[in-house]
Amino acid sequence: MKKALAILSAALFSALCLASCGGTDGTSSSSESSQESSAASTSSAESSEGSSSEESQAEESSAETDAAAEFTTVTEGVLTMATNAEFPPYEYYEGDTIVGIDAEVAQLIADELGLTLEIADIAFDSIVPGVQSGKYDIGVAGMTIDEKRLESVNFSTPYATGIQAVIVTEDSDITSVDDLAGKTIGVQTNTTGDIKACEDFGMENVVQYDNGAMAVEGLKSGKVDCVIIDNEPAKSYAAANEGLKVLETEYAVEEYAICFSKENAALQEAVNGILEDLIADGSVQEIVDKYIKAE
Ligand code: ARG
Repeated sequence: MKKALAILSAALFSALCLASCGGTDGTSSSSESSQESSAASTSSAESSEGSSSEESQAEESSAETDAAAEFTTVTEGVLTMATNAEFPPYEYYEGDTIVGIDAEVAQLIADELGLTLEIADIAFDSIVPGVQSGKYDIGVAGMTIDEKRLESVNFSTPYATGIQAVIVTEDSDITSVDDLAGKTIGVQTNTTGDIKACEDFGMENVVQYDNGAMAVEGLKSGKVDCVIIDNEPAKSYAAANEGLKVLETEYAVEEYAICFSKENAALQEAVNGILEDLIADGSVQEIVDKYIKAE
């Protein structure tokens, strides 16, 4: 009995030491972000509109701080985000830097957590397995919450809406989704556009590409008759490539969220608390407005 206690306290001691003595190296760059308390207090003031309801937001925000103290990350002091940076305006390159809505939202989250953000640009269909196996802390990639993915990872509160759209050449005879039967459809591998196109039009009619840009090249060179991809990237690609247009019809409406390993509920809780505040105080909308101009 005594022995067990001794072992336990030794373990506790080393855990404490790890938490307080370890890893001060290289984490100083984002430590200036201690203004979070003022941002957090405005959101609880806003919630008073539903004063007759009994939801206790106060409890939620204290759970948020507890969780923030407990989570672990792949590399101490660093929030490692997996993405696939061929998806403007959510993630794309400006020179050597990955920019976009997801990169900026993740940066705000990392700042609030007191962590340095590192972004890994990988194949889209490696993001869920990479996050699931604990190689990356979070996946942020304009990723749609989907049943199949939910078997492998957890998702945050949604932070954006995505619509599957259809890109065609300006002279195309395809005018709506109804015209797609029997046509050859280009998609990015394992995206929801791919999954839905295979379900609705048969996988023999679907051509998978590594990314949206390559699918668009396929359309321009006549290898496919259209590309199904999320509407904002669709608009970016159509704007950047002459002779292409996006059909008015919406093919599917989806929600984007951040994914986490099921083993890291504490990180999910901490990120969710911050994300919800960033949505409530308009910070996410501000970033969206910077990248997506109203027409
Ligand atoms: N929303 C779609 C999905 O979740 C496409 C996302 C593609 N994202 C990217 N960064 N390439 O399947």
